[in-house]
Amino acid sequence: MKRAIRIHSPGGPEALRLEEVSVGMPGPGEVRIRHHACGLNFIDVYYRSGLYPLDMPAGIGMEGAGVVEAVGEGVSHLQPGDRAAYACQPPGAYSTARVLPAKNVVRLPDGVDFETGAAMMLKGLTVQYLLRRTQPQGGLQPGDFVLFHAAAGGVGLIACQWARAMGLQLIGTAGSPEKCELALRHGAAHAIDYRREDFVARVAEITGGQGVKVVYDSVGNDTFAGSLQCLRPFGLLAVFGSSSGPVPPFGLQLLAARSLYVSRPTLFTHLATREATQEMADDLFGMVARGDIRIPVERRYPLAEAVQAHRDLEARLTTGCSVLLP
Ligand SMILES: NC(=O)c1ccc[n+]([C@@H]2O[C@H](COP(=O)([O-])OP(=O)(O)OC[C@H]3O[C@@H](n4cnc5c(N)ncnc54)[C@H](OP(=O)(O)O)[C@@H]3O)[C@@H](O)[C@H]2O)c1
Repeated sequence: MKRAIRIHSPGGPEALRLEEVSVGMPGPGEVRIRHHACGLNFIDVYYRSGLYPLDMPAGIGMEGAGVVEAVGEGVSHLQPGDRAAYACQPPGAYSTARVLPAKNVVRLPDGVDFETGAAMMLKGLTVQYLLRRTQPQGGLQPGDFVLFHAAAGGVGLIACQWARAMGLQLIGTAGSPEKCELALRHGAAHAIDYRREDFVARVAEITGGQGVKVVYDSVGNDTFAGSLQCLRPFGLLAVFGSSSGPVPPFGLQLLAARSLYVSRPTLFTHLATREATQEMADDLFGMVARGDIRIPVERRYPLAEAVQAHRDLEARLTTGCSVLLP
């Protein structure tokens, strides 16, 4: 048996219920992990609220770290006793133990503790594919301006550090002066409090009217129109989340004046194979080992307090990464 947070129908944070459920043995291509820490992510809110549909009852959570207890047929890169971490579908990480696809599980380097491992996989691999692989035409060069919304969040503070290591000038937006300060301390070259300032005007000012080559936008509805205005000709808008609600349908003509590109990328397209997962994780682990990135675990909640963790996340009270402890 294990303890797991499950939902029986979509709803608010109170839809999250702590239950006793059985953990089976891993089937072919699967692995069973005993969690030491689980990551909290905004995507968990989309699943809990029903924005992303799930068959009910359902587990929740897509990021975790712990010890491998058993491996299924055909799994050769892991063995019982290994310290491991993952970002994976389907949800189910808010639990003491679970079975999951082995292709998205990697061994945790010795120097990385479980809390860090649980906080870094989904968020850090997202920054990896955004900054390294979701680039505008001609790529990104040191000195280039990029705009990154919600820069003081879990994904955001990792992005600030990764962009600095690449020599990029990251302009971060965040929802308070304290959050802006935090983004600057983590490597943002400029920070804009987008709840008080017009971020389009400030980006124009910072870039001398040129605009940025790429906008990484996880806020969605509230920022979409402004994000397009911040782009220079041939610029790329990567909408990778919708914390303020999904982007409404729009006509392609909106992109015509400056020949703009729009993408709607997801991490799990990038994590399609074990080889791809390992390659991206090696890049992330290297950034952490060299000290280019410190994973900012700022909050810890007991697993039983997942409801409070979701309330805080949705109320914009968290900064950096949060973990649930089983
Ligand atoms: N597509 C992918 O592959 C992928 C993968 C991972 C994450 N994501 C997305 O990346 C984003 C960040 O994820 P995260 O887990 O690190 O979360 P997070 O950034 O720690 O939390 C979300 C932040 O969004 C901002 N926000 C703006 N408007 C909001 C609103 N109306 N309600 C709530 N928050 C609002 C808040 O920061 P301010 O107060 O500073 O505005 C809030 O702290 C999410 O949108 C997530 O879905 C996408």
